[in-house]
This record gives sequence, C-alpha cells and structure tokens, in this order.
Amino acid sequence: MIGLAEKKAPKKSLWQRHRTFLGGVVALIIIGTFLLEQSFHPPPPHHGAKPPHGGKGHRQSNKCKKIEPLIPSFNRSIDIILHDSTFRNSSIEKLSNAIKIPTVVQDENPEPAEDPDYYEHFYVLHEYLEKTFPHVHEQLQLEKINELGLLYTWEGSEPELKPLLLMAHQDVVPVNNETISSWNFPPFSGHYDPETDFVWGRGSNDCKNLLIAEFEAVEQLLIDGFKPKRTVVMSLGFDEEASGILGASSLASFLHERYGDDSIYSIIDEGEGIVEVDKDVFVATPINTEKGYVDFEISILGHGGHSSVPPEHTTIGIASELITEFEANPFDYEFEFDNPIYGLLTCTAEHSKSLSKDVKKTILGAPFCPRRKDKLVDYMSKQPHLRSLIRTTQAVDIINGGVKANALPETTRFLINHRVNLHSSVSEVFERNLEYAKKVAKKYGYGLSKNGNDFIIPETDLGHIDVTLLRELEPAPLSPSSGPVWDVLAGTIQDVFENGVLQNNEEFYITTGLFSGNTDTKYYWNLSKNIYRFVGSIVDADLLKTLHSVNEHVDVPGHLSAIAFVYEYIVNVNEYA
Ligand SMILES: *[C@@H]1O[C@H](CO)[C@@H](O)[C@H](O)[C@H]1NC(C)=O
Ligand SMILES: *[C@@H]1O[C@H](CO)[C@@H](O)[C@H](O)[C@H]1NC(C)=O
Ligand SMILES: *[C@@H]1O[C@H](CO)[C@@H](O)[C@H](O)[C@H]1NC(C)=O
Ligand SMILES: *[C@@H]1O[C@H](CO)[C@@H](O)[C@H](O)[C@H]1NC(C)=O
Ligand SMILES: [Zn+2]
Repeated sequence: MIGLAEKKAPKKSLWQRHRTFLGGVVALIIIGTFLLEQSFHPPPPHHGAKPPHGGKGHRQSNKCKKIEPLIPSFNRSIDIILHDSTFRNSSIEKLSNAIKIPTVVQDENPEPAEDPDYYEHFYVLHEYLEKTFPHVHEQLQLEKINELGLLYTWEGSEPELKPLLLMAHQDVVPVNNETISSWNFPPFSGHYDPETDFVWGRGSNDCKNLLIAEFEAVEQLLIDGFKPKRTVVMSLGFDEEASGILGASSLASFLHERYGDDSIYSIIDEGEGIVEVDKDVFVATPINTEKGYVDFEISILGHGGHSSVPPEHTTIGIASELITEFEANPFDYEFEFDNPIYGLLTCTAEHSKSLSKDVKKTILGAPFCPRRKDKLVDYMSKQPHLRSLIRTTQAVDIINGGVKANALPETTRFLINHRVNLHSSVSEVFERNLEYAKKVAKKYGYGLSKNGNDFIIPETDLGHIDVTLLRELEPAPLSPSSGPVWDVLAGTIQDVFENGVLQNNEEFYITTGLFSGNTDTKYYWNLSKNIYRFVGSIVDADLLKTLHSVNEHVDVPGHLSAIAFVYEYIVNVNEYA
C-alpha cells in the first residue's frame, strides 16, 4: 500500500500533478499511512443519548462496489497501445521529443500577439505536433485562440449530440538553475532510461504526457478508421502554470460563444489517476471538484513620523497582531460525506485486507454514528495534507512595511491566501477576515474598510485597516459520481484497467477525488456539468516529490495506459452515451 511503499519494490507507474495540487495527491498517500496506523483505536463507547443506530450491529455504508467494465466493440488498437513493442517505442520517442521543447512560462507572461519571441518554443511545439500527428492535422479542424491556444475539432456525424472535450496544457514550469546539477538527466533532455522504464524531464508528468496521450489516441483512432458520432474537441491552453489567464480563459470564452451553456457532454483534464491502497487493491480517483481560492490584501494605514516619538503600536505591530489572530483561529473542519475524499476512505475500508476491523468500522460507520464521524475527522485533522481537504486553509504569504530605521512605517500590508473548503464560499471567508480585522481595529482605535473605500468603522486620527479582495474563485461545482455520464467514464476506466492493464488477480475500484488547487477547468464550468480531472495512469508515491521539482519523470506503462484510456473513452462515449 502507498503508505508502506518503501517496504516493497515500488511499482512502476505514472502520476500526474503539479505543485499546487500536491496536497491533494499527497493526501492519498497519507490515507495509506492513516489506514494502517495501529494506534488508531475504536471510538469510545457512547454515553448519554442512545446512538441513532442502536446497540449491536452497526450499519455500514457500502458504496465501493466493483462496477462492470464497459467493453467497446471498436477496440482495434487497445491491445497494441498497451502491449505492442513498436507502438511503445514510438510513444516513448513522441513524448521524449515533446519534452525537449522547453515551453516554459513564468508567473507573468506577455500577450502572445505582442511578444511572439517570448513564446518561440510554443511555435516549435506546434510544428512538432503537426509533423508527428499528420492524421490529426489532416482531418481535424485546427483553430488558434489567442495565437497559441490550440483548438482541434473532430466533427461528429451527429451534430445534435453534445461534444466531448479533452483538455491539457502545453506549458511547463521553469527549472531552477541552481538545481540543474541535481537532475539525473538534463531537464529538457526527454531522456528515456530503459533501466527504470522512465522518461525524464520537465513536463514529463505535468503535462506533456497527457497532451501527447490525447494526440496519440486521436491519431490512432483516425488511422483505425474510427468515425465519431459525437464531435470530439481538444482544447489546449498555454499558461496553465500561470493560472490560464491568457490561454484557458480565451479558449473557454471562445467555446462558450460557439456552443453555449451546458453544451459539452463531458470534459477531461489533467488530474489524479489510480492509487494502490493495499496490496493488489487499486482505486481510481477522477477529481470531480476543486477547492476555491481567494487572496486578500490587508493594509494597516497609519501615519508616519519620526521614530523617536513613536505611538504605542506601529502599523507593523498592528499587522502582527492581526496575523497572530488569524493564525490562532484557524478555520473549522467541515467534513461532509459528499467530500470526495470519503470515497477513497470507503473503498479502502471496504476492500483492504490488512486494515483492522476497528478502523474499517470507524470509516464505514461514520455516516450513521456521530462519534465515529468525530473520530474520523479528528484523525484526518492530524494529517497535514489530509486536513487541508476538509477545511478552508489560510497562509500569510507576503508582507511589507517600513523602509528606514528612524521613520515610522506609514503603511504595512500583507497578503493572505485561502483555499476555500467545499460548501464554504469566498464571502464566508471575507466575513470572517473582516471580523478579526474589526476586533484589532477596535482594540487599537483604528477605522476599518473593505475593498479600499467601503467603510465599516470610520477613519480615526490613527488611521484605518483595509481588507481588499484581490482574486477569487468559488469551490468548483461537484460533478456527478453517478448517472449516465459518470457510468460511461467509470465503466471505461474499469475496462482499461481490469481487462487491459491489470491482468492478474488485482482488484480495481472507482471513486472520486478532490484537489486543493485549481486546473484550467476553472474557466470551463459553464460549458459542462461533467468535469473530471483524470489521467489513466497508476500513481506512484516516489514520483510525487518530483513534480515542479527536480527529476520529474513518467513511467512508460503509465503513459501507455493513459493513451489507452483516452482512446477507449472516445469510443465508449460514441457507443454507450
Ligand atoms: C476486442 O473485441 C473482440 C470482439 O468483441 C474481443 O474478442 C477481443 O477480446 C477484444 N479485445 C480487447 C483488447 O478488448
Ligand atoms: C524497442 O526499443 C528497444 C530498445 O529500447 C529495442 O530493444 C526493441 O527491439 C525495440 N522494439 C521494436 C519492435 O522496435
Ligand atoms: C538560468 O540559466 C539560463 C541559461 O543559462 C539563463 O538564460 C537564465 O537567465 C537563468 N535564469 C536565472 C533565474 O538565473
Ligand atoms: C458562467 O456564466 C455566468 C452567467 O452567464 C457568469 O456570470 C459566470 O461568470 C460564468 N462562469 C464562468 C466560470 O465562466
Ligand atoms: Zn498541469
């Protein structure tokens, strides 16, 4: 199981994430540890009111049943993709060459039309794609959105059907020069190492792998003579690592203009894959929601003066107190059973062979027993990465104030970043921050405003505190984990892995996952209710550390299964939806 990865030979596999999402992925590993922890005692006996379920024989949820694989009738290349050595060698080369093109973006990037030189590598990537995937470029319509966004349309024979939308991003994060010597192979070498069966390099896992997998799948379907009924669209941004401001946002608006609200059958983008939660027990976790995001700039606006005649508290002191207040009062845990993380816990509890009965009861009985739920939340709250998935987080990331030893700081500002819990909202976080700002303002005789000019307490002689919202994103809508669209996705994953990848006695289940970060899909909410962030690869703990960091790599079997998944999903969406 993941938590004990060191004890067994690490399974070669692929994982897919970037740093902002690391929390979500790490959580999976922590659950592995959590579930095996021997010191996890059963909840104490109930006292006081009788528990809702009465005495013996606790009820348990049973939500992680094995589902039936959805077998496509058009399956010409699935075996070839997964097992043919010629295909494999050519896939390695296609991915490797894509990694060699350093499509790096920074946090701030110019408009592509204004600075083509800045984006020279993206133009090289586009030529590379044209050359490498000739059928795609012959038979699909290609539109360039905001110069570099790639929008491919494979027209289906039944235009009244909602299109299927595949996403990925072309850009990668930079490589820190100081770390280059720590890379086993140069970061843009795309080196394939037969020893490990890994392809190495920046972007190998985030997300040239998915980008190339989508092209490979569509190219192969075209070669195989597949004709979709349902239009297939590929929408590929170029600045996901800088929030998709130029790429995904333009692509999504363009698509919204063309197709309208709720016009897309389903959207697949980068995300989580499959984890091994216990020996030979695999669980797929397509991400069906993301936490929200909000930054506030908080300013203590006082008066300057000579520091030889200072007030009791400078703006720096007051900012410090406010920060201390925030940190002393973290957000409450709010865990509901629709939190996707509960699905993974449930699957593990239902199917793990090594987990103790008590732990299983705690997890599975939690919906029916408040004390078990408390126990579960209490445990999750002690795991740094897991706890981030069940509450709104806060992090003061920037602070500024003062310039000179003998001058009082007129203004001190800091930035606080929050990732907003499911079922909470940006306004709830705003209210809470204002509450603490008010407390500190009152204590020191300052005024209080929000967003610069909306005064809650009038300005005083000393000054005022201001809380300004800089950037906001509500938690993403929860995509369904049942119903017809989900069934085709889950059935396809089940088939690819049960019948294609895992051919022995492994068990394979499907649930959902949660990100604490945000993908390019944040611009696409209006286009579809069915947004899943998923790569068809088995995730390995060892790979986690390399994302956005040194020695990023991807395993070849994981890359091949990702191609097979896209191939089969396109087919199944035509045959079953
Ligand atoms: C493809 O379909 C045929 C006929 O339905 C079946 O016999 C064969 O096993 C399938 N191959 C794969 C790889 O699923
Ligand atoms: C694939 O590449 C390996 C070397 O990595 C080589 O040994 C093998 O013969 C190749 N297979 C084919 C079918 O070209
Ligand atoms: C890193 O090295 C490259 C190539 O030597 C150089 O162009 C770039 O400016 C360097 N970046 C930093 C942050 O030093
Ligand atoms: C969705 O549409 C509504 C109404 O047209 C708009 O206000 C909102 O900003 C859109 N959201 C996204 C994420 O595009
Ligand atoms: Zn990414």
